[in-house]
Amino acid sequence: MAVREIIKLPDKRLRLKSEPVKQIDASIRKLVDDMFETMYKAPGIGLAAIQIGIPKRVITLDLSKKEQDHAPRVFINPEITWHSEERAKFEEGCLSIPEYYEEVERPTAVKVRYLDLAGKKHEIDAKGLLATCLQHEIDHINGVLFIDHISKLKRDRVIKKFVKAAKENAAKKVEA
Ligand code: NI
Repeated sequence: MAVREIIKLPDKRLRLKSEPVKQIDASIRKLVDDMFETMYKAPGIGLAAIQIGIPKRVITLDLSKKEQDHAPRVFINPEITWHSEERAKFEEGCLSIPEYYEEVERPTAVKVRYLDLAGKKHEIDAKGLLATCLQHEIDHINGVLFIDHISKLKRDRVIKKFVKAAKENAAKKVEA
């Protein structure tokens, strides 16, 4: 296992549409291991493979509150097959947009079809935090970020801030 670098706004790879996993082989199992290690280290509750620069439709989640209750979950080729008409606002953040939080309105419940690591098909009903996280991560594999769901004014402001930070970082690297 290895902790991988999490790519950040404005990295263009975050806008890629990830490819479906065709075969769950050793490389996918290694990817999932690395995603969990990276996610726990961050720490975060969800990660999409593209956030470590791999454009494959793989998501890891762990919504457990305490470390001793770790409940790792993997979703391969996840698809939203139904969403509720009812919507609600939750504050969201993202490991690729660190230290920025904003309320996002989404359907309160979804049905998600996916494969587990053994290649077995599942369909689950998700609501509350699980529904929000699954929608946030499925957005990632479609090249969508949570800031796409907020006002243009707020989105432009946060993008500008991260573009500026990336430029300053690049300048520092040149100096070093
Ligand atoms: Ni995210």
